Amino acid sequence: MARIVVVGSINMDLVTQASRFPHSGETLLGEGFFTVPGGKGANQAVAAARLGAEVALVGALGIDTFGRQLRQGLAAEGIDLTHTAHLDDCASGTASITIAGGENQIIVVPAANARVTPAQVEQAHGLIERADVVLVQMEIPLETVEATLWLGRHLDVPVILNPAPAQQLPTEWLRLARYVTPNQHELAILLGADPDEDFRQLMLRAPCPVVLTRGAEGAWYHEGEGEPLHQDGFKVEVVDSTGAGDTFNAALAVFLHEGLPTAVRKACAAAALSVGKLGAQAGMPGLTELDNWLSWQTT
Ligand code: RIB
Ligand code: NA
Repeated sequence: MARIVVVGSINMDLVTQASRFPHSGETLLGEGFFTVPGGKGANQAVAAARLGAEVALVGALGIDTFGRQLRQGLAAEGIDLTHTAHLDDCASGTASITIAGGENQIIVVPAANARVTPAQVEQAHGLIERADVVLVQMEIPLETVEATLWLGRHLDVPVILNPAPAQQLPTEWLRLARYVTPNQHELAILLGADPDEDFRQLMLRAPCPVVLTRGAEGAWYHEGEGEPLHQDGFKVEVVDSTGAGDTFNAALAVFLHEGLPTAVRKACAAAALSVGKLGAQAGMPGLTELDNWLSWQTT
């Protein structure tokens, strides 16, 4: 059983379904509304737990209605919340999401997530020391991302940095990550490069190994040198792609010990399964579901 520590955000997703996205100043009649648990950190924690990993989440929630619901959901997935703070003077994070035609638009208000501290990461030292892989994203303060990368390096535990939402980061930080997992757009921002530059060139210029996600087109990966390798995407019907990247990252972490090519293939498969259901965490497969489904695939 893989032991995974996730350092990241927890949000309530406020999801509106519409036939298309509204223009600025336009009022559109929507087709549905629901609230479901999300946040990149929480999504990655849930996806890893469903794939059989022992998971702890370092994060922060407000003591409000969403905070209570989010906490219950995470606990029900068996996630260790010892290092998730409960802040009584702050709201829980939210993401207002519009889904139209399988695409989404998201506005995240970090709230409590803006108060996940380097000290919390330090307090989770013992857990991180025993972890097989640490996952971190960028919906929390960058100083906390940095603290996670340094602690992973110090303890010799691999850290997967999912640079979403993207910002340019110091080269020195990127060198601390075992893998960086951007999409094409995020990789360009991360490196401060021209977004039109070929992503394979960008991968070669990155100061660390990159696993690059390409949605339906699968993923590209390399170990930091040599030509990037490609894993085809799996053909599925997309209902809601929210959380697909999170599912990918979680599976990559859980299966990393099987070698990078296998981990990337399983990560693409898990992400493909996750987009079949509405909601970030709905559709994230369990281990048996993933294995059964993969045994029927030729990709
Ligand atoms: O990666 C998907 C997640 O991004 C959503 O669940 C939403 O909360 C935003 O954080
Ligand atoms: Na989903």
